[in-house]
Amino acid sequence: MKKSRILVTCPRGITPFLKEEILRAGFPVLSEGIAGISTEGTIDDTLALNLLLRTGHHVLFLIREFRAHDSDDLYQSLSEIAWEKHIAEDGYVCVTSSVDNPNIRDSRYANVKCKDAIVDRIREKRGQRPDSGPDKDSAVINLYWKQDLCSVYFDTSGEPLSKRGYRKIPMKAPMQETLAAAVIRAAGWNGSRHFINPMCGSGTLAIEAALIALNKAPGLLRNNYGFMHLKGFNKALWSTLRERAKKETRKTLQCRIIATDISREAVEAARKNASTAGVEHLIEFDVCDYSATAIPEGEGIVILNPEYGERMGRIQELGDVYKGIGDYFKQKCRGYKGYIFTGNPDLAKQVGLRTKRRVQFFNSGIECRLLEYELYEGSRKSKYSDV
Ligand SMILES: C[S@@+](CC[C@H](N)C(=O)[O-])C[C@H]1O[C@@H](n2cnc3c(N)ncnc32)[C@H](O)[C@@H]1O
Repeated sequence: MKKSRILVTCPRGITPFLKEEILRAGFPVLSEGIAGISTEGTIDDTLALNLLLRTGHHVLFLIREFRAHDSDDLYQSLSEIAWEKHIAEDGYVCVTSSVDNPNIRDSRYANVKCKDAIVDRIREKRGQRPDSGPDKDSAVINLYWKQDLCSVYFDTSGEPLSKRGYRKIPMKAPMQETLAAAVIRAAGWNGSRHFINPMCGSGTLAIEAALIALNKAPGLLRNNYGFMHLKGFNKALWSTLRERAKKETRKTLQCRIIATDISREAVEAARKNASTAGVEHLIEFDVCDYSATAIPEGEGIVILNPEYGERMGRIQELGDVYKGIGDYFKQKCRGYKGYIFTGNPDLAKQVGLRTKRRVQFFNSGIECRLLEYELYEGSRKSKYSDV
């Protein structure tokens, strides 16, 4: 089977965590970009990547690279690819693209040209053409066209891997699943210490933490991927990989995971989402103010993702919340590590504690930070005064 370049995309800021995961899965890292990592392997290798990666979005398998000056060049080169060997004539194909070419004003035009080349070729060879449209639940072809260099990929993920399938009820300002997994990694948490998540919202952080602690492959939660709609899909390999991943999943946790929110509705949603992910029995849910969240004896992390609203009045109100989080850290979380994920540095200052570490992320285009606070035991209380 032929090897090719595989580009795994991810949100900006997440590449260090994705790189670590790709290496751990046994794949080489060929290059790193702002929003993706290049590795290499066969089309069968994309199955394992889709199954195992927590922080990747799309696993793109390079089909061909060529020069195209304009849309006619693009159509011509794409017509030379034997699409009939990969896509069923009675199937469905979706084309996605990222285009930066001076001759193409609207990337939708490049999509249409690409789709035309694929379906025309298949009709010519098979006498029938697949349907096409925007749905990403079948075969997906991705076109990356910068200046005159075109890279054409099978998007073996189809829908982004961030859509694990468990978040049926998203609630307000939910964190993307891939971002939550990266944030947990950035906190250095691996399941050996307690994980306390006040302000849990739809439960993404707590659910991702449970999946990490169990070593449960996130891909076990989904049953549809782009690669399944390509001819030659290796079903036997897919079941072997799934079975192996299931065997490697722990049944119990070594730590406690506690998730609370002041909103009953949010906690109900989080509980349902956790149940869909198969981890509801491992998370202790409660409806309460963040400051009333229990901190068990022992070591652990307390991680909060408070709102960081945009309206001014709201910002003043939120300032008190951030200050309150600082007090909660100082008074109740000694011996733990505290983390706040926020997109508003001014609000973060209200916490009133010295930040030990800041990790940069991007959430829906907004620059965010994961702020780490060392919450010393009582005997080292003086550390709190040096704000
Ligand atoms: C930005 S959302 C968290 C989103 C979450 N990370 C997710 O992925 O769904 C902030 C949450 O804080 C909760 N909240 C606001 N004030 C609170 C308080 N005083 N105590 C506890 N929870 C609070 C809200 O109900 C909301 O669910």
